[in-house]
Amino acid sequence: MRLEDIIIKENKKVAHDTYLLSFVSSDMAKEILPGQFLEIKVGEGLNNLLRLPISIHDVIDDTIYMLYKVIGNGTKDLTEYKTGAKISALGPLGNGFPKLEGEKEVLLVAGGIGYGPFPLVIRNNNNYKLFYGVSTKNEIAKDTTFKLENDKVNVATVDGSEGHKGFVTDILEEYILKNGEKDKIIFSCGPEIMMKKVAQIANKYNIESYLSLEEYMACGIGACVGCVKKIKNSEKKEGWEYKKVCKDGPIFKGDEVIWE
Ligand SMILES: Cc1cc2nc3c(=O)[nH]c(=O)nc-3n(C[C@H](O)[C@H](O)[C@H](O)COP(=O)(O)OP(=O)(O)OC[C@H]3O[C@@H](n4cnc5c(N)ncnc54)[C@H](O)[C@@H]3O)c2cc1C
Ligand code: FES
Repeated sequence: MRLEDIIIKENKKVAHDTYLLSFVSSDMAKEILPGQFLEIKVGEGLNNLLRLPISIHDVIDDTIYMLYKVIGNGTKDLTEYKTGAKISALGPLGNGFPKLEGEKEVLLVAGGIGYGPFPLVIRNNNNYKLFYGVSTKNEIAKDTTFKLENDKVNVATVDGSEGHKGFVTDILEEYILKNGEKDKIIFSCGPEIMMKKVAQIANKYNIESYLSLEEYMACGIGACVGCVKKIKNSEKKEGWEYKKVCKDGPIFKGDEVIWE
């Protein structure tokens, strides 16, 4: 983990309210695992006190990419940073997705900006299928470091403007029904309601799954206990324990998450 002042290489709009930011750091690039994130400090003042957690989208040579969606003040201010601007970044943080062993096909299930971490997973593993769900087609980040036009990519839009009309979990389950559940593993990132459904599908077909959970974070390094989630643990009296999303996660096994 490093604390660096990074210099922005590019910060460009790639879809509705969605931007791709890149910078060069050979030290960070060497350390990053797929599914890890950075905590970045955007702006000054009371509106921007906390750092923002943003997943690492991709790493190409020494260049690190992040895909982000405008939500509130921090991400809105981030869009104003141009090439050459300086920003403080802490990371890489978090555990990352597990290393894939053997011949398993990885089913990547992304909801909206939850697509963020997957190009780096794909760069390390060609045996994948990507299921990418958004509300409407102008939210699809088609052309970042990864080009979506590819027969391993399946898109779902809620309004039917592109791909399957409906939810991304529909096309995930259809694929499993058609191709069987053998030798498959699921990685997912997106809204909690979607990941809960992904975990149910994974349990139904007995497929191992890993979910990247989102939680409000203050410190990002395990010091403030501000980001806890209930995770099953049969050795505890209650059958569960609180785990820190920033340090123990953000990625947890789908069958261990307790949804509230
Ligand atoms: C592990 C992890 C990875 C993430 N990866 C991405 C990504 O790749 N791309 C992306 O666009 N977004 C990602 N997010 C969500 C992103 O952090 C929030 O959208 C962002 O912090 C919103 O900040 P804001 O100031 O624009 O909004 P505001 O709502 O004004 O946020 C105020 C503060 O609350 C905190 N906060 C707000 N929303 C969240 C949230 N959902 N999760 C955690 N903290 C939050 C931030 O610290 C922020 O400073 C990720 C979140 C987590 C936990
Ligand atoms: S954000 Fe402080 S412990 Fe996780």
